[in-house]
Amino acid sequence: MNQPEPYPRNQWYVAAWRNEIGRTLFERRILDEPIVFYRTEAGEPVALAGLCPHRLYPLREGRLVGDRVECGYHGFTFDCTGACVDIPSQTKVPSRFATRRFPVVDRWEWTWIWMGDPALADETRIPPINSIGLGADGWRADAGVLTPLGTRFSLLLENLMDLSHVSFAHAKSLPGSTSLAAIPATISEDGEILRVDRKLPTGPLEGFGAHLHPDLAGTVCEDRIVSDYFGPALVRTGGRYIVPVSGGQTRAFNFIHGVTPETSTTTHYFNAIARNFRLDDDDLSYGVLAQMKRVIDEDVIVLNTIEAYVDRHAATEHELSCQADVGALRVRRKLAAQVAAEATLAKKIVPITPALARDGVARP
Ligand code: FES
Ligand SMILES: [Fe+2]
Repeated sequence: MNQPEPYPRNQWYVAAWRNEIGRTLFERRILDEPIVFYRTEAGEPVALAGLCPHRLYPLREGRLVGDRVECGYHGFTFDCTGACVDIPSQTKVPSRFATRRFPVVDRWEWTWIWMGDPALADETRIPPINSIGLGADGWRADAGVLTPLGTRFSLLLENLMDLSHVSFAHAKSLPGSTSLAAIPATISEDGEILRVDRKLPTGPLEGFGAHLHPDLAGTVCEDRIVSDYFGPALVRTGGRYIVPVSGGQTRAFNFIHGVTPETSTTTHYFNAIARNFRLDDDDLSYGVLAQMKRVIDEDVIVLNTIEAYVDRHAATEHELSCQADVGALRVRRKLAAQVAAEATLAKKIVPITPALARDGVARP
């Protein structure tokens, strides 16, 4: 049986595509909690605990009345702060009656959620997606897909931080990448960002690079592929970063991965692409998005297959790690440290919203 996977809670995660959340109640499970989403009449996103605190009927089965949610069982009604504002069977609504509200904010085409202590939900802690081309001037960004992944989120993070797998797991979808695994990776950290960097041989641009940049075909260029870890919720794999040796702007193509734990062993995997060249070329976007979908489908097969064995073998078998795992192992340590720090912090914090007992009486 799988063991629970601890995940950081004091963290912004991608909850949904922005256009998934509207004037219809919509539920998604995040960090193993059902969350109900909607927009106010003014268009602001709202996220509440998905089960009515009266008798746990899913709020998604209720209805929106203005900016309020009316439960579909006994009609308790909650406003967008989570406060209960109506109990049809009595005239008085005790002020302590409430459900949990989660901070949410729209950034680019994603709506982000903070699942931890609301007092710590500082929007400046949302990963700097602008810096990698999502919603930034001079960039073209395209929304990809949301892929349901039957594996714990940490396996996906490790996959993205070790691109040596590309030469093998993606041999069909990326046939020109057979030499990638043999290129040594260097690791660096810049504040919160951990980078794994692979420098390809400098030389005349050809192959896929020349296909992307016909104006640079045959020009001597530096070329690299990176994985950047912006925390557990976001990874950018960049490839390729091409710079003409004679000077000129870096041509960047970013593959952006939003990683959101659904449960201890399943993950919501959001994708997008961004580039700072050929901004008006729709066909290039469609072609790369289609290829990315094929690549993701290959990763899904590998990761879902591994998930079935991770815990079964954990007690008796030890993994072997090689040089290419340095970035993934560093991510493991960072995740463990983040979870441990939150556990320490949690001991010092008094819950802001007291838990409601099943009889509706709040207790500390
Ligand atoms: S379960 Fe929601 S009002 Fe009773
Ligand atoms: Fe992959």
